[in-house]
Amino acid sequence: MTDPKIVDITLAGHSYPVVIGPALLENAAYWISPLLPRQHSVIITDETVAALHLPKLQQNLESNGIKLDVLVLPTGEKTKNWQTLERILAFLVDAKIERTDAIVALGGGVIGDITGFAASILRRGCNFIQLPTTLLAQVDSSVGGKTAINMPQGKNLVGAFHQPVLVLADTDVLATLPRRELLAGYAEVVKYGLINDAAFFDWCDTHAEALVAGDTSARAHAIETSVRAKGFIVAQDPHETNGTRALLNLGHTFGHALEAETGYSNALLHGEGVAAGIVLAFQFSTARGICSAADAARVTAHFNRLAMKTSIAAITTASGAKLVAHMLQDKKRQQGTLPFLLARGIGQTYLDASVNLADVAAFLDGTFSPLTLAAE
Ligand SMILES: NC(=O)c1ccc[n+]([C@@H]2O[C@H](COP(=O)([O-])OP(=O)(O)OC[C@H]3O[C@@H](n4cnc5c(N)ncnc54)[C@H](O)[C@@H]3O)[C@@H](O)[C@H]2O)c1
Ligand SMILES: [Zn+2]
Repeated sequence: MTDPKIVDITLAGHSYPVVIGPALLENAAYWISPLLPRQHSVIITDETVAALHLPKLQQNLESNGIKLDVLVLPTGEKTKNWQTLERILAFLVDAKIERTDAIVALGGGVIGDITGFAASILRRGCNFIQLPTTLLAQVDSSVGGKTAINMPQGKNLVGAFHQPVLVLADTDVLATLPRRELLAGYAEVVKYGLINDAAFFDWCDTHAEALVAGDTSARAHAIETSVRAKGFIVAQDPHETNGTRALLNLGHTFGHALEAETGYSNALLHGEGVAAGIVLAFQFSTARGICSAADAARVTAHFNRLAMKTSIAAITTASGAKLVAHMLQDKKRQQGTLPFLLARGIGQTYLDASVNLADVAAFLDGTFSPLTLAAE
């Protein structure tokens, strides 16, 4: 077995390893067994992941003497709801899960978010383990401790901060992930370079095609760098109170508006909205005269090369005013104004509280008078 990479996430009073590498599911007992006081656990997963990856995990855990109960949920975002949460809680109680047992979440962000939330409230908090199976979950949702379900009024409205005790990011499971899902997760990878690590963006620019095509060492490097970056940011702001963690939302205000306009549907995956949102954030920064046109063009070209959508026109015909209205609905609104993540350049993202929403609407309509900096 290739030696995995280990990134330790340390948050106030709590530390856990994120293990990154191939063949982790078929060797999961090695990592999980020491965390189980009585060699009994439950696995929560979805139908798609169960068909592809559950057998090797189950086989390894059971052959190492771990008794398992398994709950397979329907695939998709709709699973993150109250009814399913209740179903998970009933299942966990029936399986006699105690606080010191560890609940295993095997799947993408949907399974990780709802299982983590169930773990956070069952018996006032049980241990849980993340086995993320999408690139998005490996680089983003499995790290940092945000758990949630959706309400009819909006996404992720009910949840808790609850850190896992272990994350196993098996790079082999990404082999079955559809290219579109992989690219959506990749947008969050590029995001870390654009926030504060220009050298990592350079690396992405060189390795994007190899990573997308299946180069496992490129994938492992991207996951490790992303997890480290997220861990570093989250450690400075574990409960999103001092503004540091907001940096992780680069591209997300524009992206959420596009997602909302397309009805959070399959028409635009979250990461696709983020990629387009990042491009818009850079182009808007250029239009405001704070980022060079060359940097914005480089970011746009990067996603274009991968055939990701980088223009509003490719996504919706909605007006700027309508998209801004979606932004105001977003839960990150603070007293009617919106702080925007803008960039002074690649790797130089900052939170700007002085953005005029009328300017944003005009920019989205293509009528904002640009103050473009000369290309370098
Ligand atoms: N907690 C956080 O900090 C955080 C951060 C970002 C996103 N999220 C949440 O994560 C969710 C999105 O995560 P996601 O994109 O992983 O969605 P997902 O869990 O729905 O997975 C996407 C699709 O890929 C399938 N899949 C998963 N692993 C696979 C594999 N290895 N091979 C083939 N198919 C596979 C799933 O069955 C699903 O159809 C959203 O609900 C979002 O709100 C949470
Ligand atoms: Zn995101």
